[in-house]
Amino acid sequence: MRKVYIETYGCQMNVSDTEVVFSILAAHGYEKTDDINRADVILANTCSVRDNAEQRILGRIEQFNLQRKSRPGVVVGILGCMAERMKEELLATLKVDIVAGPDSYRSLPQLIDRALSGAPAINTELSRTETYHDIRPLRSSANGVSAFISIMRGCNNVCSYCVVPYTRGVERSRPARSIVREACECFENGFREVTLLGQNVDSYRWTSADGSTVSFAALVQMVAQVSPLLRVRFSTSNPQDISDELLAVMAAHSNVCRHIHLPVQSGSNRILEKMRRRYTREWYLDRVRAIRTMVPGCSLTTDVIAGFCSETEEDHRQTLSLFDEVGFDTAFMFYYSERPGTLAAKKYPDDVPLDVKIRRLEEIISLQNRKSLEAYKADVGKRFEVLVEGPSKKGQSASGVPQLCGRASNNKMCVWEDASHKSGDYVTVEVVSCTQATLLCRLVQD
Ligand code: SAH
Ligand code: SF4
Ligand code: F3S
Repeated sequence: MRKVYIETYGCQMNVSDTEVVFSILAAHGYEKTDDINRADVILANTCSVRDNAEQRILGRIEQFNLQRKSRPGVVVGILGCMAERMKEELLATLKVDIVAGPDSYRSLPQLIDRALSGAPAINTELSRTETYHDIRPLRSSANGVSAFISIMRGCNNVCSYCVVPYTRGVERSRPARSIVREACECFENGFREVTLLGQNVDSYRWTSADGSTVSFAALVQMVAQVSPLLRVRFSTSNPQDISDELLAVMAAHSNVCRHIHLPVQSGSNRILEKMRRRYTREWYLDRVRAIRTMVPGCSLTTDVIAGFCSETEEDHRQTLSLFDEVGFDTAFMFYYSERPGTLAAKKYPDDVPLDVKIRRLEEIISLQNRKSLEAYKADVGKRFEVLVEGPSKKGQSASGVPQLCGRASNNKMCVWEDASHKSGDYVTVEVVSCTQATLLCRLVQD
Protein backbone atom coordinates (compact mmCIF):
# COMPACT_ATOMS: atom_id res chain seq x y z
CA MET A 1 0.00 0.00 0.00
CA ARG A 2 1.25 3.47 -0.84
CA LYS A 3 1.52 5.74 2.15
CA VAL A 4 0.10 9.25 2.13
CA TYR A 5 0.96 12.07 4.52
CA ILE A 6 -1.16 15.25 4.68
CA GLU A 7 -0.53 18.54 6.49
CA THR A 8 -3.55 20.79 6.92
CA TYR A 9 -3.49 24.59 7.15
CA GLY A 10 -6.22 27.23 7.32
CA CYS A 11 -9.79 26.96 8.50
CA GLN A 12 -12.07 24.16 9.68
CA MET A 13 -13.27 23.68 6.10
CA ASN A 14 -9.78 22.52 5.22
CA VAL A 15 -9.69 20.15 8.20
CA SER A 16 -12.96 18.71 6.94
CA ASP A 17 -11.70 18.54 3.33
CA THR A 18 -8.59 16.65 4.43
CA GLU A 19 -10.90 13.97 5.86
CA VAL A 20 -12.63 13.76 2.48
CA VAL A 21 -9.27 13.46 0.73
CA PHE A 22 -8.18 10.62 3.05
CA SER A 23 -11.44 8.85 2.30
CA ILE A 24 -11.00 9.19 -1.49
CA LEU A 25 -7.40 8.00 -1.31
CA ALA A 26 -8.20 5.11 1.05
CA ALA A 27 -10.74 3.86 -1.52
CA HIS A 28 -7.86 3.78 -4.03
CA GLY A 29 -5.54 1.71 -1.88
CA TYR A 30 -3.67 4.42 -0.01
CA GLU A 31 -2.83 4.21 3.66
CA LYS A 32 -2.48 7.21 5.97
CA THR A 33 0.85 7.87 7.68
CA ASP A 34 1.85 10.50 10.25
CA ASP A 35 5.52 10.01 9.42
CA ILE A 36 6.62 12.18 6.53
CA ASN A 37 9.86 10.22 6.22
CA ARG A 38 7.93 7.10 5.23
CA ALA A 39 5.39 8.74 2.93
CA ASP A 40 5.20 8.02 -0.80
CA VAL A 41 2.84 10.92 -1.34
CA ILE A 42 3.26 14.19 0.61
CA LEU A 43 0.32 16.58 0.45
CA ALA A 44 -0.37 19.99 2.00
CA ASN A 45 -3.93 21.31 2.17
CA THR A 46 -3.29 25.04 2.07
CA CYS A 47 -4.71 28.46 2.95
CA SER A 48 -4.45 31.78 1.08
CA VAL A 49 -6.38 34.04 3.43
CA ARG A 50 -3.38 36.15 4.46
CA ASP A 51 0.09 36.53 3.02
CA ASN A 52 1.82 35.07 6.08
CA ALA A 53 -0.27 31.87 5.72
CA GLU A 54 1.09 31.47 2.21
CA GLN A 55 4.66 32.32 3.20
CA ARG A 56 4.60 29.58 5.82
CA ILE A 57 3.50 27.04 3.24
CA LEU A 58 6.12 28.16 0.72
CA GLY A 59 8.67 27.46 3.48
CA ARG A 60 7.21 23.97 4.00
CA ILE A 61 7.44 23.28 0.26
CA GLU A 62 11.22 23.68 0.58
CA GLN A 63 11.22 20.99 3.26
CA PHE A 64 9.01 18.68 1.17
CA ASN A 65 11.39 19.18 -1.74
CA LEU A 66 14.26 17.81 0.36
CA GLN A 67 12.23 14.61 0.85
CA ARG A 68 11.44 14.53 -2.85
CA LYS A 69 15.10 14.85 -3.80
CA SER A 70 16.47 12.38 -1.27
CA ARG A 71 13.85 9.67 -1.86
CA PRO A 72 13.17 9.00 -5.56
CA GLY A 73 9.52 8.17 -6.30
CA VAL A 74 8.15 10.50 -3.64
CA VAL A 75 5.65 13.01 -5.03
CA VAL A 76 4.55 16.30 -3.47
CA GLY A 77 1.13 17.85 -3.97
CA ILE A 78 -0.43 21.17 -3.00
CA LEU A 79 -4.17 21.09 -2.33
CA GLY A 80 -6.67 23.70 -1.22
CA CYS A 81 -6.90 27.45 -1.54
CA MET A 82 -3.29 28.21 -2.45
CA ALA A 83 -3.42 25.56 -5.19
CA GLU A 84 -6.50 27.30 -6.55
CA ARG A 85 -5.00 30.78 -6.32
CA MET A 86 -1.50 30.07 -7.66
CA LYS A 87 -2.23 27.24 -10.10
CA GLU A 88 0.68 26.66 -12.59
CA GLU A 89 2.86 29.08 -10.64
CA LEU A 90 3.30 26.30 -8.06
CA LEU A 91 4.37 23.75 -10.69
CA ALA A 92 6.79 26.31 -12.11
CA THR A 93 8.75 26.19 -8.84
CA LEU A 94 9.71 22.62 -9.91
CA LYS A 95 9.33 21.63 -6.26
CA VAL A 96 5.76 20.43 -6.58
CA ASP A 97 4.34 17.57 -8.68
CA ILE A 98 0.60 17.94 -8.09
CA VAL A 99 -1.68 20.99 -7.81
CA ALA A 100 -5.30 20.27 -6.88
CA GLY A 101 -7.94 22.90 -6.09
CA PRO A 102 -10.74 22.38 -3.52
CA ASP A 103 -13.28 21.00 -6.02
CA SER A 104 -10.93 18.50 -7.70
CA TYR A 105 -10.31 15.95 -4.96
CA ARG A 106 -12.19 13.13 -6.70
CA SER A 107 -9.50 13.25 -9.39
CA LEU A 108 -6.59 13.05 -6.91
CA PRO A 109 -5.83 9.32 -7.45
CA GLN A 110 -5.45 10.01 -11.20
CA LEU A 111 -3.40 13.15 -10.54
CA ILE A 112 -1.05 11.16 -8.29
CA ASP A 113 -0.68 8.41 -10.91
CA ARG A 114 0.15 11.02 -13.48
CA ALA A 115 2.74 12.60 -11.20
CA LEU A 116 4.27 9.18 -10.48
CA SER A 117 4.69 8.69 -14.21
CA GLY A 118 6.76 11.87 -14.23
CA ALA A 119 4.25 14.28 -15.73
CA PRO A 120 3.09 17.42 -13.93
CA ALA A 121 -0.49 17.04 -12.70
CA ILE A 122 -2.90 19.90 -12.16
CA ASN A 123 -6.66 20.29 -11.70
CA THR A 124 -7.93 23.64 -10.45
CA GLU A 125 -11.35 23.59 -12.02
CA LEU A 126 -14.04 24.99 -9.74
CA SER A 127 -17.46 23.38 -9.73
CA ARG A 128 -20.98 24.76 -9.38
CA THR A 129 -22.26 21.53 -7.87
CA GLU A 130 -19.53 19.56 -6.07
CA THR A 131 -20.27 19.10 -2.35
CA TYR A 132 -18.68 15.64 -1.83
CA HIS A 133 -22.06 14.80 -0.29
CA ASP A 134 -21.73 11.07 -0.94
CA ILE A 135 -18.22 10.72 0.49
CA ARG A 136 -17.87 9.47 4.04
CA PRO A 137 -15.00 11.49 5.52
CA LEU A 138 -12.27 9.44 7.18
CA ARG A 139 -12.12 10.98 10.64
CA SER A 140 -9.07 9.13 11.81
CA SER A 141 -7.29 12.18 13.22
CA ALA A 142 -10.32 13.53 15.09
CA ASN A 143 -10.61 13.12 18.86
CA GLY A 144 -13.50 10.68 18.41
CA VAL A 145 -15.91 13.02 20.19
CA SER A 146 -16.28 16.04 17.98
CA ALA A 147 -16.72 15.94 14.17
CA PHE A 148 -16.92 18.54 11.41
CA ILE A 149 -19.67 18.23 8.83
CA SER A 150 -19.41 20.38 5.75
CA ILE A 151 -22.91 21.62 4.80
CA MET A 152 -22.02 23.91 1.94
CA ARG A 153 -19.05 25.04 -0.15
CA GLY A 154 -17.93 28.31 -1.68
CA CYS A 155 -19.16 31.82 -0.95
CA ASN A 156 -21.34 34.27 -2.86
CA ASN A 157 -20.36 37.33 -0.86
CA VAL A 158 -17.67 39.52 -2.24
CA CYS A 159 -16.15 41.06 0.87
CA SER A 160 -13.56 43.26 -0.78
CA TYR A 161 -10.57 42.04 1.25
CA CYS A 162 -11.30 38.33 0.93
CA VAL A 163 -9.76 35.74 -1.37
CA VAL A 164 -12.13 32.90 -0.39
CA PRO A 165 -14.74 33.41 -3.16
CA TYR A 166 -11.92 33.10 -5.70
CA THR A 167 -10.35 30.02 -4.14
CA ARG A 168 -13.57 28.21 -3.21
CA GLY A 169 -15.93 29.25 -5.98
CA VAL A 170 -19.66 29.89 -5.88
CA GLU A 171 -21.81 28.92 -2.95
CA ARG A 172 -23.61 25.59 -3.08
CA SER A 173 -25.54 23.75 -0.39
CA ARG A 174 -25.33 20.07 0.25
CA PRO A 175 -28.51 17.95 0.32
CA ALA A 176 -30.09 18.12 3.80
CA ARG A 177 -30.68 14.37 3.80
CA SER A 178 -26.98 13.57 3.35
CA ILE A 179 -26.08 15.96 6.19
CA VAL A 180 -28.55 14.34 8.59
CA ARG A 181 -27.38 10.88 7.53
CA GLU A 182 -23.78 11.86 8.28
CA ALA A 183 -24.77 13.29 11.67
CA CYS A 184 -26.55 9.98 12.49
CA GLU A 185 -23.48 8.00 11.46
CA CYS A 186 -21.26 10.21 13.59
CA PHE A 187 -23.51 9.60 16.57
CA GLU A 188 -23.58 5.83 15.98
CA ASN A 189 -19.77 5.88 15.77
CA GLY A 190 -19.50 7.45 19.21
CA PHE A 191 -19.21 11.14 18.28
CA ARG A 192 -21.16 13.41 20.62
CA GLU A 193 -20.73 16.77 18.89
CA VAL A 194 -20.98 17.88 15.27
CA THR A 195 -20.00 21.28 13.89
CA LEU A 196 -21.85 22.28 10.72
CA LEU A 197 -19.43 24.15 8.48
CA GLY A 198 -19.82 26.77 5.79
CA GLN A 199 -18.40 30.23 4.98
CA ASN A 200 -21.87 31.71 5.52
CA VAL A 201 -24.07 29.06 7.11
CA ASP A 202 -27.14 31.31 7.30
CA SER A 203 -27.47 31.26 3.53
CA TYR A 204 -27.68 27.46 3.49
CA ARG A 205 -30.74 26.46 1.46
CA TRP A 206 -31.61 23.07 0.02
CA THR A 207 -34.44 22.63 -2.43
CA SER A 208 -35.50 19.02 -2.85
CA ALA A 209 -37.06 17.42 -5.94
CA ASP A 210 -40.61 18.09 -4.71
CA GLY A 211 -39.82 21.81 -4.43
CA SER A 212 -39.75 22.00 -0.62
CA THR A 213 -36.85 23.94 0.85
CA VAL A 214 -34.77 23.50 3.97
CA SER A 215 -33.38 26.69 5.54
CA PHE A 216 -30.34 26.72 7.82
CA ALA A 217 -32.57 27.03 10.89
CA ALA A 218 -34.59 24.00 9.71
CA LEU A 219 -31.38 22.06 9.09
CA VAL A 220 -30.07 22.79 12.59
CA GLN A 221 -33.38 21.58 13.98
CA MET A 222 -33.16 18.35 11.95
CA VAL A 223 -29.62 17.67 13.18
CA ALA A 224 -30.57 18.58 16.77
CA GLN A 225 -33.29 15.93 16.60
CA VAL A 226 -30.82 13.14 15.78
CA SER A 227 -30.33 12.67 19.53
CA PRO A 228 -30.53 14.87 22.63
CA LEU A 229 -27.06 13.48 23.40
CA LEU A 230 -25.60 14.91 20.19
CA ARG A 231 -24.45 18.49 20.50
CA VAL A 232 -24.74 20.75 17.47
CA ARG A 233 -22.42 23.65 16.69
CA PHE A 234 -22.09 25.72 13.53
CA SER A 235 -19.70 28.19 11.93
CA THR A 236 -19.56 30.79 10.38
CA SER A 237 -22.58 33.03 10.88
CA ASN A 238 -22.87 36.24 8.92
CA PRO A 239 -24.22 39.28 10.79
CA GLN A 240 -26.27 40.25 7.75
CA ASP A 241 -28.02 36.91 7.43
CA ILE A 242 -28.35 35.42 10.92
CA SER A 243 -32.08 34.96 11.45
CA ASP A 244 -34.43 35.08 14.42
CA GLU A 245 -35.70 31.72 13.16
CA LEU A 246 -32.25 30.27 13.91
CA LEU A 247 -32.15 31.90 17.35
CA ALA A 248 -35.57 30.38 18.07
CA VAL A 249 -34.31 26.91 17.10
CA MET A 250 -31.32 27.41 19.42
CA ALA A 251 -33.60 28.48 22.25
CA ALA A 252 -35.84 25.44 21.72
CA HIS A 253 -33.07 22.82 21.65
CA SER A 254 -30.66 22.70 24.56
CA ASN A 255 -28.27 20.48 22.58
CA VAL A 256 -27.67 23.30 20.08
CA CYS A 257 -24.66 24.88 21.73
CA ARG A 258 -24.77 28.34 23.25
CA HIS A 259 -22.12 29.90 21.06
CA ILE A 260 -22.18 32.02 17.92
CA HIS A 261 -19.12 33.06 15.96
CA LEU A 262 -20.17 36.35 14.40
CA PRO A 263 -17.28 38.06 12.57
CA VAL A 264 -17.63 41.84 12.75
CA GLN A 265 -14.41 42.82 10.86
CA SER A 266 -14.68 46.52 11.82
CA GLY A 267 -16.68 48.82 14.09
CA SER A 268 -16.74 51.69 11.59
CA ASN A 269 -19.61 52.00 9.10
CA ARG A 270 -17.37 53.70 6.56
CA ILE A 271 -14.90 50.80 6.66
CA LEU A 272 -17.66 48.16 6.68
CA GLU A 273 -19.02 49.67 3.49
CA LYS A 274 -15.59 49.63 1.84
CA MET A 275 -15.19 46.04 2.97
CA ARG A 276 -18.54 45.32 1.27
CA ARG A 277 -19.92 43.83 4.42
CA ARG A 278 -23.67 44.29 4.06
CA TYR A 279 -24.44 45.50 7.58
CA THR A 280 -23.77 48.51 9.77
CA ARG A 281 -22.42 48.78 13.28
CA GLU A 282 -25.99 49.47 14.47
CA TRP A 283 -27.32 46.36 12.72
CA TYR A 284 -24.53 44.29 14.26
CA LEU A 285 -25.26 45.57 17.77
CA ASP A 286 -28.95 44.89 17.21
CA ARG A 287 -28.16 41.25 16.28
CA VAL A 288 -26.04 40.95 19.44
CA ARG A 289 -29.01 42.17 21.50
CA ALA A 290 -31.34 39.71 19.75
CA ILE A 291 -28.93 36.84 20.50
CA ARG A 292 -28.60 37.80 24.15
CA THR A 293 -32.35 38.17 24.57
CA MET A 294 -33.43 35.04 22.73
CA VAL A 295 -30.55 32.73 23.74
CA PRO A 296 -29.48 33.69 27.27
CA GLY A 297 -25.98 32.53 28.19
CA CYS A 298 -24.91 32.41 24.54
CA SER A 299 -21.24 33.27 24.11
CA LEU A 300 -20.12 35.44 21.22
CA THR A 301 -16.84 35.34 19.38
CA THR A 302 -15.68 37.36 16.41
CA ASP A 303 -13.05 38.12 13.77
CA VAL A 304 -11.64 41.59 13.17
CA ILE A 305 -9.25 43.17 10.68
CA ALA A 306 -7.11 46.15 11.77
CA GLY A 307 -5.73 48.63 9.28
CA PHE A 308 -7.93 48.04 6.25
CA CYS A 309 -7.42 50.45 3.34
CA SER A 310 -7.93 54.12 4.36
CA GLU A 311 -8.70 53.25 8.01
CA THR A 312 -8.27 56.36 10.18
CA GLU A 313 -7.64 56.64 13.92
CA GLU A 314 -11.33 57.50 14.28
CA ASP A 315 -12.38 54.32 12.40
CA HIS A 316 -10.03 52.34 14.63
CA ARG A 317 -11.55 53.91 17.77
CA GLN A 318 -14.95 52.79 16.51
CA THR A 319 -13.67 49.22 16.42
CA LEU A 320 -12.28 49.54 19.94
CA SER A 321 -15.55 50.97 21.22
CA LEU A 322 -17.56 48.18 19.59
CA PHE A 323 -15.30 45.61 21.26
CA ASP A 324 -15.74 47.41 24.55
CA GLU A 325 -19.51 47.53 24.14
CA VAL A 326 -20.06 43.91 23.07
CA GLY A 327 -17.54 42.18 25.33
CA PHE A 328 -16.74 39.18 23.13
CA ASP A 329 -15.73 35.98 24.86
CA THR A 330 -12.87 35.48 22.40
CA ALA A 331 -11.76 37.06 19.15
CA PHE A 332 -9.53 36.20 16.21
CA MET A 333 -7.67 39.39 15.41
CA PHE A 334 -5.65 40.13 12.27
CA TYR A 335 -4.13 43.07 10.46
CA TYR A 336 -5.10 43.60 6.87
CA SER A 337 -3.13 41.65 4.29
CA GLU A 338 -3.77 42.58 0.68
CA ARG A 339 -4.72 39.57 -1.44
CA PRO A 340 -4.06 39.62 -5.18
CA GLY A 341 -7.18 39.65 -7.34
CA THR A 342 -9.60 40.85 -4.64
CA LEU A 343 -11.74 43.95 -5.10
CA ALA A 344 -9.77 45.83 -2.45
CA ALA A 345 -6.49 45.02 -4.18
CA LYS A 346 -7.91 46.40 -7.43
CA LYS A 347 -9.69 49.47 -6.06
CA TYR A 348 -8.03 50.69 -2.87
CA PRO A 349 -4.40 51.39 -2.03
CA ASP A 350 -3.09 49.38 0.94
CA ASP A 351 -2.22 52.70 2.57
CA VAL A 352 -2.09 52.07 6.32
CA PRO A 353 1.63 51.68 7.15
CA LEU A 354 2.60 48.31 8.63
CA ASP A 355 3.72 49.79 11.96
CA VAL A 356 0.32 51.50 12.32
CA LYS A 357 -1.54 48.27 11.45
CA ILE A 358 0.49 46.43 14.08
CA ARG A 359 -0.05 49.09 16.72
CA ARG A 360 -3.82 49.14 16.13
CA LEU A 361 -3.95 45.36 16.18
CA GLU A 362 -2.07 45.33 19.49
CA GLU A 363 -4.53 47.83 20.94
CA ILE A 364 -7.45 45.61 19.93
CA ILE A 365 -5.68 42.53 21.33
CA SER A 366 -4.94 44.12 24.69
CA LEU A 367 -8.52 45.39 25.04
CA GLN A 368 -9.88 41.96 24.04
CA ASN A 369 -7.57 40.17 26.50
CA ARG A 370 -9.14 42.22 29.29
CA LYS A 371 -12.63 41.55 27.96
CA SER A 372 -11.95 37.80 27.64
CA LEU A 373 -10.79 37.65 31.23
CA GLU A 374 -13.96 39.50 32.32
CA ALA A 375 -16.13 37.14 30.26
CA TYR A 376 -14.45 34.06 31.72
CA LYS A 377 -14.59 35.48 35.26
CA ALA A 378 -18.32 35.96 34.84
CA ASP A 379 -18.63 32.17 34.68
CA VAL A 380 -16.87 31.54 38.01
CA GLY A 381 -19.31 29.90 40.41
CA LYS A 382 -21.56 28.60 37.60
CA ARG A 383 -22.23 24.95 36.87
CA PHE A 384 -21.93 23.61 33.34
CA GLU A 385 -22.53 20.34 31.60
CA VAL A 386 -19.30 19.50 29.82
CA LEU A 387 -18.61 16.98 27.07
CA VAL A 388 -15.36 15.22 27.98
CA GLU A 389 -12.81 15.46 25.15
CA GLY A 390 -9.96 13.66 26.90
CA PRO A 391 -6.97 14.32 29.15
CA SER A 392 -6.07 18.01 29.54
CA LYS A 393 -2.84 19.28 27.96
CA LYS A 394 -0.99 18.77 31.23
CA GLY A 395 -2.66 15.39 31.77
CA GLN A 396 -2.68 15.79 35.53
CA SER A 397 -3.04 18.47 38.17
CA ALA A 398 -0.22 19.75 40.38
CA SER A 399 -1.14 17.13 42.99
CA GLY A 400 -0.82 14.32 40.44
CA VAL A 401 -4.54 13.58 39.96
CA PRO A 402 -5.59 12.91 36.32
CA GLN A 403 -7.03 16.03 34.73
CA LEU A 404 -9.64 16.02 31.96
CA CYS A 405 -10.73 18.72 29.55
CA GLY A 406 -13.84 19.45 27.55
CA ARG A 407 -16.05 22.30 26.45
CA ALA A 408 -19.11 23.78 28.05
CA SER A 409 -22.01 24.47 25.69
CA ASN A 410 -20.76 28.08 25.45
CA ASN A 411 -17.56 26.72 23.86
CA LYS A 412 -15.30 27.62 26.79
CA MET A 413 -12.63 25.04 27.56
CA CYS A 414 -12.93 23.55 31.05
CA VAL A 415 -10.31 21.50 32.95
CA TRP A 416 -10.89 19.55 36.16
CA GLU A 417 -9.49 16.70 38.24
CA ASP A 418 -11.24 13.48 37.38
CA ALA A 419 -10.10 9.87 37.53
CA SER A 420 -13.41 8.28 36.65
CA HIS A 421 -14.71 9.64 33.32
CA LYS A 422 -13.67 9.16 29.73
CA SER A 423 -14.00 11.02 26.45
CA GLY A 424 -17.58 11.18 25.18
CA ASP A 425 -19.08 11.28 28.70
CA TYR A 426 -21.15 14.23 29.86
CA VAL A 427 -20.19 15.51 33.32
CA THR A 428 -21.26 18.46 35.47
CA VAL A 429 -18.55 20.81 36.69
CA GLU A 430 -18.49 23.94 38.79
CA VAL A 431 -16.16 26.75 37.78
CA VAL A 432 -13.71 27.60 40.57
CA SER A 433 -11.42 30.09 38.82
CA CYS A 434 -10.22 30.94 35.34
CA THR A 435 -7.63 32.35 32.98
CA GLN A 436 -8.62 34.37 29.91
CA ALA A 437 -8.94 31.15 27.88
CA THR A 438 -9.78 28.33 30.31
CA LEU A 439 -12.28 27.65 33.07
CA LEU A 440 -10.68 25.81 36.00
CA CYS A 441 -13.37 23.62 37.51
CA ARG A 442 -14.22 20.94 40.04
CA LEU A 443 -16.28 17.87 39.26
CA VAL A 444 -19.78 17.89 40.71
CA GLN A 445 -20.51 14.28 41.67
CA ASP A 446 -23.84 13.02 40.38
N1 SAH B 1 -16.53 33.33 6.03
C1 SAH B 1 -16.05 33.94 7.19
C2 SAH B 1 -14.58 34.24 7.20
C3 SAH B 1 -13.60 33.44 6.47
S1 SAH B 1 -11.94 34.04 6.49
C4 SAH B 1 -16.76 35.25 7.37
O1 SAH B 1 -17.45 35.74 6.50
O2 SAH B 1 -16.62 35.86 8.39
C5 SAH B 1 -11.61 34.15 8.26
C6 SAH B 1 -11.23 35.51 8.72
O3 SAH B 1 -10.00 35.92 8.16
C7 SAH B 1 -12.19 36.63 8.32
O4 SAH B 1 -13.30 36.70 9.16
C8 SAH B 1 -11.34 37.86 8.41
O5 SAH B 1 -11.37 38.43 9.70
C9 SAH B 1 -9.94 37.33 8.14
N2 SAH B 1 -9.47 37.77 6.82
C10 SAH B 1 -9.98 37.47 5.61
N3 SAH B 1 -9.30 38.09 4.64
C11 SAH B 1 -8.32 38.81 5.24
C12 SAH B 1 -7.29 39.67 4.76
N4 SAH B 1 -7.15 39.92 3.47
N5 SAH B 1 -6.45 40.23 5.67
C13 SAH B 1 -6.61 39.96 6.99
N6 SAH B 1 -7.56 39.18 7.49
C14 SAH B 1 -8.41 38.59 6.63
FE1 SF4 C 1 -14.81 35.92 2.66
FE2 SF4 C 1 -16.89 37.47 3.10
FE3 SF4 C 1 -17.26 35.07 2.04
FE4 SF4 C 1 -16.52 35.28 4.58
S1 SF4 C 1 -18.46 36.00 3.71
S2 SF4 C 1 -15.66 33.92 3.06
S3 SF4 C 1 -15.19 37.07 4.55
S4 SF4 C 1 -16.19 36.79 1.08
FE1 F3S D 1 -7.88 29.71 4.20
FE2 F3S D 1 -9.24 28.75 2.22
FE3 F3S D 1 -10.13 28.48 4.67
S1 F3S D 1 -8.19 30.66 2.20
S2 F3S D 1 -9.38 30.30 5.66
S3 F3S D 1 -8.31 27.59 3.88
S4 F3S D 1 -11.35 28.76 2.85
